[in-house]
Amino acid sequence: MSPVPLILWMVAVAHTVLAGRVCPRPPEIPLATVDIKKEEYNLGEEITYSCNPGYVPQSGSRRFTCPLTGRWPIVTLRCIPKKCSYPGPLNNGKIHYTHLSYQSLVSFSCDAGYILQGHKTSQCLADGQWSEKLPECQSVICPPPPVSPFGALFYLRLKPGNILVFQDVVKFECLSPLALFGNETAKCLANGSWSALPECRSVQCPHPVQVENGYINLAVRRTYQYNENVTYGCYPPYVLDGPAVSKCDKTGNWSIKPTCRAPCTIPVKRATVLYNEQKVKLQDHFRDGIQHAETIWFFCKNKEHHCSYTVPAQCKDGTLSVPPCFKERGWFSSLVKTDVADLTPCESIN
Ligand SMILES: *[C@@H]1O[C@H](CO)[C@@H](O)[C@H](O)[C@H]1NC(C)=O
Ligand SMILES: *[C@@H]1O[C@H](CO)[C@@H](O)[C@H](O)[C@H]1NC(C)=O
Ligand SMILES: *[C@@H]1O[C@H](CO)[C@@H](O)[C@H](O)[C@H]1NC(C)=O
Ligand SMILES: *[C@@H]1O[C@H](CO)[C@@H](O)[C@H](O)[C@H]1NC(C)=O
Repeated sequence: MSPVPLILWMVAVAHTVLAGRVCPRPPEIPLATVDIKKEEYNLGEEITYSCNPGYVPQSGSRRFTCPLTGRWPIVTLRCIPKKCSYPGPLNNGKIHYTHLSYQSLVSFSCDAGYILQGHKTSQCLADGQWSEKLPECQSVICPPPPVSPFGALFYLRLKPGNILVFQDVVKFECLSPLALFGNETAKCLANGSWSALPECRSVQCPHPVQVENGYINLAVRRTYQYNENVTYGCYPPYVLDGPAVSKCDKTGNWSIKPTCRAPCTIPVKRATVLYNEQKVKLQDHFRDGIQHAETIWFFCKNKEHHCSYTVPAQCKDGTLSVPPCFKERGWFSSLVKTDVADLTPCESIN
């Protein structure tokens, strides 16, 4: 054999032997790369897959050795996108997203009355962090309510601080004697304007009306302004029923006027009655009658048990009804018979 074919034969043999002793290029795995990239790998050579930036291994092994068979084992590695943590909460706003994984976009919006300060969107980066800081939703600011600085209408802030923001409320007042019409509070609205402001108007009431059997204290003949008041009184023995003070209200009317109520004469000459929980002689105490709304208790007799009980009688604007069970004694019988008021009270018998 000539040497040239021999060498060729030896190369061929060597090649066939070696042919079983190398691994080919390893399989391509989506979203992953192999650390050593070659056309052929020697037996026992190691390769490691790593997931691409932004992806993490979910399952399967990452490290492989070129085996004697020269065939790579089945690679089960799967890479999935990295997750970013929920970027919220966003106070007074909302975060819109479908996924929170690598390359996902989230967007931010603020509720009505709030303005977004910062980035409107943010992206989940390969390192699992968001590309932008969480924005803030800041309250809309309302300018001071449009009242003239020295006008009749002024307002009070209901909370400390220099600025008025969305949903803040101010309370209005009018310089005396003007009356306030409309809502006495206004709110800072979402669009930075104020809800309807009230207004101040001058209101007059006519001269207050006299009451029968009474008088008005310090009533000078003139008109009265809103919130001014007059005080009523009654000539004795008439008494006041209702509030003594009447005020000029917003409608230009006086608040309710009181009435002077008449006293009552008692249509009984002599009797012992109960008055303010004391036994008193009618003839001594009530010569001039009793005042409206006062009450006296008459004694009546329970004949069966020979005891006494009391029945109230109230004076109502000049009228007092003596209870029917009361029996007035004549002058003579008052000398010889026991007064009903001195009998044992019935309630102490049972
Ligand atoms: C007055 O305005 C406030 C808001 O500032 C509102 O809540 C309230 O209902 C209003 N009152 C009336 C009587 O309209
Ligand atoms: C603000 O909103 C209120 C109702 O919400 C509306 O009546 C008013 O006209 C708005 N003002 C401006 C300046 O847009
Ligand atoms: C009545 O008016 C006087 C002075 O105008 C005031 O001092 C007083 O408080 C008022 N009284 C009532 C019950 O409003
Ligand atoms: C108050 O006065 C107005 C007219 O100024 C009248 O229409 C109204 O009925 C009055 N209201 C009362 C409660 O008297």
